[in-house]
Amino acid sequence: MSAQIKSKSRVRDKGEVFTNPREVNAMLDLVKQETERIDSRFLEPACGNGNFLIEILRQKLEVVKARYKKSQWEYEKNALIAVMSIYGVDIMQDNVNECIERLLTLFTDYYKNLYKKNIKEDYLEIVHFVLTKNILCGDALSMKANSGKPLVFAEWSFVKGSLVQRRDFKYEQLLVQNDKNTLLGDFIEKPIKTYPLTHYLNLKENTND
Ligand SMILES: C[S@@+](CC[C@H](N)C(=O)[O-])C[C@H]1O[C@@H](n2cnc3c(N)ncnc32)[C@H](O)[C@@H]1O
Repeated sequence: MSAQIKSKSRVRDKGEVFTNPREVNAMLDLVKQETERIDSRFLEPACGNGNFLIEILRQKLEVVKARYKKSQWEYEKNALIAVMSIYGVDIMQDNVNECIERLLTLFTDYYKNLYKKNIKEDYLEIVHFVLTKNILCGDALSMKANSGKPLVFAEWSFVKGSLVQRRDFKYEQLLVQNDKNTLLGDFIEKPIKTYPLTHYLNLKENTND
């Protein structure tokens, strides 16, 4: 079985065929000015195990490394901003789990290569926490989780220094309601929930729902 296919039944039932890296990179080259912008937001509505999201994260982390590697604090903040801007949905829970795992592994490899023994496990836990809020399991067509509840995405913004604002929006709020359901690409509607400003290292305890 090719690495692009898990099983014939999944291809038949869910249209699951993974894109190979050559095609992913050719497509991402078309939006290079965005993949190289650290805070540019990407949402992939059928992200599979993350073939596109992983390349987007890699390109953003290259920029963060080139610009900020001399200051570990600046690197940590900007690398977290890169993760905070990457979103995905897939209907298969195993794909979602793999996607989160692959993004976290890539992130950790970059971080450990730069700072060797000086890595902070609590920081990596926050990165994992953000990924679990940004990569969701559900139906991108109905915009609902498998439980039937609406899919909700977190918007993360560093507002001053180390303080982050988390605001939650329903997936459907991120679309222009026309016949094409165009993605707005921005969080312009009223959030369904706004969390208190919190230090980024406390996001897990202060903004968990
Ligand atoms: C063609 S694969 C592409 C995966 C990935 N984007 C890639 O290029 O490697 C389609 C993916 O869509 C998912 N999928 C199918 N129907 C879906 C739906 N209604 N909502 C969200 N994901 C869905 C499948 O589980 C599968 O992972």
